[in-house]
Amino acid sequence: MPGIQIVGAGGFLGRNLLQYFKEQEYTVFSTSHQKHLTNSVDTSFLDLLNPDFQFLPSIAPKIQFSILCSSETNIDKCKNEYKMSETLNVTNTIQLIEKFWANSITPVFISSDVVFDGKIGNYSEDANCNPITQYGKQKRFVEKFLIDSKKPWLIVRLCKVFDVKYKDCTLITSWLDSLREGKTIKCADDQFISPTYIVDLCKAIESLIRIGKTGVYHACSPQIFSRFELGIKVAQFFQIDQEAVEKCSISDFSFIEPRSSFSTLNPQKLISELDFNFSTMENCFDKILYNYENIKS
Ligand SMILES: NC(=O)c1ccc[n+]([C@@H]2O[C@H](COP(=O)([O-])OP(=O)(O)OC[C@H]3O[C@@H](n4cnc5c(N)ncnc54)[C@H](OP(=O)(O)O)[C@@H]3O)[C@@H](O)[C@H]2O)c1
Repeated sequence: MPGIQIVGAGGFLGRNLLQYFKEQEYTVFSTSHQKHLTNSVDTSFLDLLNPDFQFLPSIAPKIQFSILCSSETNIDKCKNEYKMSETLNVTNTIQLIEKFWANSITPVFISSDVVFDGKIGNYSEDANCNPITQYGKQKRFVEKFLIDSKKPWLIVRLCKVFDVKYKDCTLITSWLDSLREGKTIKCADDQFISPTYIVDLCKAIESLIRIGKTGVYHACSPQIFSRFELGIKVAQFFQIDQEAVEKCSISDFSFIEPRSSFSTLNPQKLISELDFNFSTMENCFDKILYNYENIKS
């Protein structure tokens, strides 16, 4: 099995990938810019705002792939703190990718549906990119750098990702927690998403790497919901009064950068090439129910 490095192992995706690859008994290395996470031999400190790549040569011979989860992911912050986000998401990410190639490591770049304008959704891998936010432009810039490089690379584009653990503060559980506390949740009926279970995503990324795929892949659930439709489904499944799910429009929220109406991708290439099955939302609701009931007992 190839040696894997996770860059940004302290974030949501990074820590789940780290755990998943360890469970599959890969040799796994990681980096973090959080000092307290870098106190073992297989974890290195890497702050992409002030990078020092000296850790790389000693571990590089043990790594074939490095998964770049590191990013400033707050869309409005990318706009507001343009210089910072450009340094982290573009300039120093590209510098890191060049270091990987110099050490015969294939970069796996985690990208997003934000490379599209979100006017129609369900984009396939070769659809025309047209990012409408600074964050989207930064992701696309790195993608283009990889695509034009004639070097080995893999790009995995994601949509909204969630987990099913007790009070994990991701999409569905945070709605559930609010509803159970008697609060209302505001859900746009004009924004469409394909929420993807984090473990499915880890499995898909592991399969792509194990099989040796290169190129662009969309890794998201094929199920599409408006946020309102999904909010109602949560209320129904967990037997909460549906009146607590308040219908609204995405334009009711005051964002600095525009949000797309269709944050959805077409995952058929991944599904057919890997013979992959994503969990249904109903499966995930069952898992959440199980996790919440077992934490109580
Ligand atoms: N979660 C989603 O729903 C979603 C959807 C679409 C695309 N994505 C993409 O998936 C990737 C991971 O997202 P996420 O949800 O895990 O985001 P997150 O929880 O916000 O994590 C951000 C990541 O950036 C790293 N990071 C932050 N500042 C850094 C710095 N100065 N130097 C080095 N690394 C730094 C963090 O790792 P350390 O703290 O360990 O350094 C962490 O891995 C991103 O590229 C994002 O665009 C996520």
